[in-house]
Amino acid sequence: MIEVSNYDFFDYDYSQYWKVRQYEDSSEKHLLGRIFNRKKGAWFIDIGGSYGRLTSTYYNSYSNPVILDYSLRTLQKNYAIIKKRFPNIEMIAANAYHMPFRDNTYDGGLMVRVLHHISEPGEYYKELKRVMHNDSSYVQEFANKVNLKASLRAIFHLNFKFFSKDPYQQPTSKNFEGTETGEEAIFFNYHPAYVKKALISNGFNIKSKSGCSYLRIPILKKLLGDSLLLKLEYLFQKLLKTTNLPPSVVFETSLKKKTSKQSCTDKNLRKILVCPKCFGELTFKGDTAHCSGCNKTYVKEEHIWDFRID
Ligand SMILES: C[S@@+](CC[C@H](N)C(=O)[O-])C[C@H]1O[C@@H](n2cnc3c(N)ncnc32)[C@H](O)[C@@H]1O
Ligand SMILES: [Zn+2]
Repeated sequence: MIEVSNYDFFDYDYSQYWKVRQYEDSSEKHLLGRIFNRKKGAWFIDIGGSYGRLTSTYYNSYSNPVILDYSLRTLQKNYAIIKKRFPNIEMIAANAYHMPFRDNTYDGGLMVRVLHHISEPGEYYKELKRVMHNDSSYVQEFANKVNLKASLRAIFHLNFKFFSKDPYQQPTSKNFEGTETGEEAIFFNYHPAYVKKALISNGFNIKSKSGCSYLRIPILKKLLGDSLLLKLEYLFQKLLKTTNLPPSVVFETSLKKKTSKQSCTDKNLRKILVCPKCFGELTFKGDTAHCSGCNKTYVKEEHIWDFRID
């Protein structure tokens, strides 16, 4: 069993985090908007999509977008607000390591600010590969271990071991996402070469590399203000995209797998759902879904199906 960051333990309201991060929010949306503008398809999955902060960037490119998140409470609490703004969206509580979808369902996928909670990227990519179809596209954002600030700090401390490709566990004293204050959180910064290798070895070919939040430095944010900061940010996103300087790196990938099956043409959510434990067929009755394979029953509560298994 792989440990999961459970934001529901302490009723963590992630939307509060963004109230004071206008620059980072706009910087990510700008980059993703440019990527998704060029895309088109049916089923799309935003893994760890939370309260739909980034839905505007992909909503018009895919006809059947889904937000999947382990935090059932976040989805329940935000259901009405998200649905009002994005009527076509589906929301599912599930674990990224065990998704309740048929093989080869998805045309596109996205993961932003979640990989730091994924301690076993290889296991996650294996599962992702199963639900995505051949030629689908997947966008992976992650916290870059060797960003400029972290690299300078390591050099200053003569800590050259820091530059290895190994994942870096963030000190947990300042990060309590999904964990109790003082407890060790699952919080890894990854080396771009490490993520690239994990993606490639699971069939995801890297089509482009980009970065964002180049100017995530408190003093600059204070001195320059959001508007000037963003002008510079958009320039840096163009000029410095191949470097390892930014705190946030984004890989755009295309999946190659040995299956002739293309897009899933069924638009009904129930038709793409299977048991995440044994991949058995589900029988739906009102707000319950029963698996004939392993006899497990899943329920829908406050509009959200709960398919979480560990
Ligand atoms: C820092 S938030 C990022 C939310 C969103 N992607 C964004 O950028 O605004 C991380 C989210 O990942 C979810 N998460 C963490 N581990 C997960 C897992 N194994 N499966 C599904 N969701 C997970 C958390 O519940 C949380 O909502
Ligand atoms: Zn089952």
